[in-house]
Amino acid sequence: MKTYNLYNMISRFYDKAVSSPFLRRVRSQEKDTLSQILKEHILPSDIVLEIGAGTGDYTILLVEISRKITAVEFSSGMMKQLRNKISRTDRICFEKKDARKIKSFDGFDIIVGIGIAEHINLFKVLSVFQGSNARLAVFTIPTKTYSGRCMRLFYNLFGVPCRLYEKKEIYSKLSIYKELDVRIYDINDRKYCKPHTKVVVIKRQPGN
Ligand SMILES: C[S@@+](CC[C@H](N)C(=O)[O-])C[C@H]1O[C@@H](n2cnc3c(N)ncnc32)[C@H](O)[C@@H]1O
Repeated sequence: MKTYNLYNMISRFYDKAVSSPFLRRVRSQEKDTLSQILKEHILPSDIVLEIGAGTGDYTILLVEISRKITAVEFSSGMMKQLRNKISRTDRICFEKKDARKIKSFDGFDIIVGIGIAEHINLFKVLSVFQGSNARLAVFTIPTKTYSGRCMRLFYNLFGVPCRLYEKKEIYSKLSIYKELDVRIYDINDRKYCKPHTKVVVIKRQPGN
């Protein structure tokens, strides 16, 4: 099955699923960390590109804290949920397209991709970021933990590929961005289970 067909199929229950007790617990840690990072770095004058916006769990916050946002999503079902959720504002532009076809981030200050690196190659996206004028990139990275493997199993059951990243690969591939300020945050809660996500924040240093 194509990835967008799976998301079309689950789009109507996506929000319910992520607010179910287990997923909410795991996701709330990720959400707290991400909300803090986004609020800390995004200025009211910023223009944001969100890749894989889904039903808009983070788009709502991004609209609130930035000047303008372009939300890219390739599933029509997910896009429909997103459009229904966001009250009309001229500060958001919806683009139904495949994020892998974006060849330049010029014109954007901030690039955000939450829950997308499992579907596309994060390092390819980051090389586009490196060659752009954008100031900041914030992405989640799914890793090979128990919960990451469970997530991959879910996608694979539908024949959808799901990429998990090795810790070593993350650190070695990100170490090439010497002129950029790269920070990797762990989302951790060992009491319950170890979530599979890491958050990477890449900041362009002034002058680079
Ligand atoms: C796991 S969901 C995350 C949605 C949202 N960012 C969130 O955190 O709730 C991944 C989303 O990325 C979208 N997506 C996956 N691959 C994509 C691609 N190549 N281009 C655009 N959207 C994509 C899917 O359709 C889906 O809505």
